[in-house]
Amino acid sequence: MSTDKKKLTTSWGAPVGDNQNSQTAGARGPTLIQDVHLLEKLAHFNRERVPERVVHAKGAGAHGYFEVTNDLTAFTKASFLAEIGKQTPLFVRFSTVAGENGSADTVRDPRGFAVKFYTDEGNYDLVGNNTPVFFIRDAIKFPDFIHTQKRHPQTHLKNPNAVWDFWSLSPESLHQVTILMSDRGIPATLRHMHGFGSHTFKWVNAEGQACWVKYHFKTEQGVQNLAPAVAAQLAADNPDYHTEDLFEAIKKGDFPAWKLCVQIMPLEDANTYRFDPFDVTKVWSQKDYPLIEVGRMVLNRNPDNYFAEVEQATFSPGTFVPGIEASPDKMLQGRLFAYGDAHRYRVGANHQALPINRPRSEVNTYQRDGAMRADENGGGSLYYEPNSGGGPSETPAYKPAAFDVTGSADSVAYDHHDHYTQPGDLYRLLSEEERERLVQTIVGAMKPVEQDAIKLRQIGHFYKADPDYGRRIAIGLGLPVPE
Ligand code: HEM
Repeated sequence: MSTDKKKLTTSWGAPVGDNQNSQTAGARGPTLIQDVHLLEKLAHFNRERVPERVVHAKGAGAHGYFEVTNDLTAFTKASFLAEIGKQTPLFVRFSTVAGENGSADTVRDPRGFAVKFYTDEGNYDLVGNNTPVFFIRDAIKFPDFIHTQKRHPQTHLKNPNAVWDFWSLSPESLHQVTILMSDRGIPATLRHMHGFGSHTFKWVNAEGQACWVKYHFKTEQGVQNLAPAVAAQLAADNPDYHTEDLFEAIKKGDFPAWKLCVQIMPLEDANTYRFDPFDVTKVWSQKDYPLIEVGRMVLNRNPDNYFAEVEQATFSPGTFVPGIEASPDKMLQGRLFAYGDAHRYRVGANHQALPINRPRSEVNTYQRDGAMRADENGGGSLYYEPNSGGGPSETPAYKPAAFDVTGSADSVAYDHHDHYTQPGDLYRLLSEEERERLVQTIVGAMKPVEQDAIKLRQIGHFYKADPDYGRRIAIGLGLPVPE
């Protein structure tokens, strides 16, 4: 036996005399409150959980790096994209959306695709999904939408009535519903799916010129999906199938990789494009704005500790670096608030100082104190600004690019109500077998809806996207085909 075996200690570092038997008053007597090691052990156990993410609670993460393969400095001054060959460490978390932390991996759901680049000018988070669009396009609808995806307040069961009631009354969801119900709704593994920034973002170059950009991560493993019956069996036999697959692939050196591409839209095109390019329910045509390669993301290291790294990771679409900014996308604008707020609630005011979230570049702020301040808290350095002590100060060159705004402050809907062309185009792109599976999946998902009025309203949307699409679903549900 090794002589340098470590002594078990309490959390205050004192050696523990007995970790198997609590102190009692006599061998058969009640337990003593003076057994402070027991008290501490039980009390810490009670506090092992932080609140799970309100969405995207079940996830798997991995470390890796990003390498630039193309010079896009004409479009962005982002330092991590500054030269071909430059590498940046990163951490990725993949997730399902609706299920709880212990829910099955192989369910039909969008997959979260969140990337934290530890750049030399601060962290950049790209918090996207495996789909290029979303169900809604205004943040004000998000809490209601998510309520329909979660459990009924009385039965605590999933509720297809709410799901289809909301979708049928929110026809902007049709594009994402079509993607979700297609084969891509259940990826074979987390390695076999694309990723998207989904929103439109703004890139700004060193001359201060801006353009609009959309991100696409293309899987080098190829897109592969699971047949619903296989997915259902896996959900029963191995609910952590995707989590395990990612961990095992990386463990055996089979490192998954994605090519990062962007679509770039000149700033002024936003005024004349055939729909609002900030509407997250729509994709930009790749004929109009072709994919341009940026670099390659490789995942090559598993987390050492799930809670410290995956659970405590905090990704926010508002975590930008110089050269990358927000667009007026109404969903993105709401997300700029929602994530930081969630992090302060879920992980705490100093979540950015945790090892998984801490930038690898220098951090100089005047923020001090707060719960669980585990670093040196700025020591005795200057703690206010302006100051005459030469403390860190602003660099005007890093101000976000100024832009014009027009119109009245008001609650205004997106001015484009064509919810049907893009889902219809997608339907028409599918092979006959893919269409048949799509229809079967939708019919299966809509069958439990109790009210025919909801089903008929939704069939009307499918019909408007493509009459064949609507007709087949109506027939499958035994309901009249729309006129
Ligand atoms: C997680 C809100 C739309 C992708 C979250 C979390 C919140 C949230 C509060 C939990 C954050 C945490 O506790 O760390 C919202 C709101 C939205 C919205 C208010 C709309 C206004 C979207 C969209 C996407 C997306 C459009 C993708 C394009 C994600 C991902 C995560 C997440 C990937 C998990 C991040 C992680 O792995 O930690 N969202 N979300 N969300 N959301 Fe959203």
